[in-house]
Amino acid sequence: MQVVIVDSPAEVGRVAAAKITQVIRRRNDAVLGLATGSSPLAIYAELARQVRQDGLDCSAVRAFALDEYVGLPAGHPESYRSVIQREVVAPLALTPAFVHVPDGTASDVAAACADYEQRIAEIGPVDIQILGIGANGHIGFNEPTSSFASRTRIKTLAPTTRADNARFFDSPDEVPTHCLTQGLGTILDAKRLVLVAQGEKKADAVAKMVEGPVSSMCPGSALQLHADATIVIDQAAASRLALIDYYRYTYDNLPEWQRFYTDGAY
Ligand code: F6R
Repeated sequence: MQVVIVDSPAEVGRVAAAKITQVIRRRNDAVLGLATGSSPLAIYAELARQVRQDGLDCSAVRAFALDEYVGLPAGHPESYRSVIQREVVAPLALTPAFVHVPDGTASDVAAACADYEQRIAEIGPVDIQILGIGANGHIGFNEPTSSFASRTRIKTLAPTTRADNARFFDSPDEVPTHCLTQGLGTILDAKRLVLVAQGEKKADAVAKMVEGPVSSMCPGSALQLHADATIVIDQAAASRLALIDYYRYTYDNLPEWQRFYTDGAY
């Protein structure tokens, strides 16, 4: 796992976006894995800037969302389909038909999940998967004790996750109790993972993910099993890492060819 510690939340977005741009510039029909929530917003803002100012062309990019709430009507502004349309598809000028989100309105949930896995198998593998992490260590909505072998399925959101996400809704009771989420096994099939975290609230989860035992009690620790996982975090999110000085030293001494090019070059 590569741990990159940067000075500000905005820099988290810039550095992580550079990794994604490298993939898209090498392959214009790259398959992206999309996370929602606050953490990746700075990535999407930076990618949108590159589309507007640097001629980054995302029109052939294919994308798969990590998860979707169950039971929100399709046009609900906080359904992840709506959020992705607003925060990603429109600003990055993605082609809507190339963007896939699990169907949280399906009456046959098992069939919807199997169909989603099938589409990933046909169009994927995902070239680069964007991830955030919950304060309880979840990735996607794989809450603690999720199987490392899990595939897309329905999950019950932890009460703490519902409370954390209440800020997006008019009242806490409106936060759905269930979601469809790619499994940890699905996420680990992506070729590259880039996880971003900002702020002190994520510091415990980040420390457990990077330095704790590989355990379903911290689903993010599954990243320790992936051969190409990068964590880009700010100082606050890094504050409980025991080896923080080593990660800084390693990054400062990276060979030139392994560096990120944050100016959009690659
Ligand atoms: C959302 C997702 C979640 C979030 C996590 C952090 O698609 O997969 O794992 O990344 O809940 O959310 P924020 O970024 O809002 O703190």
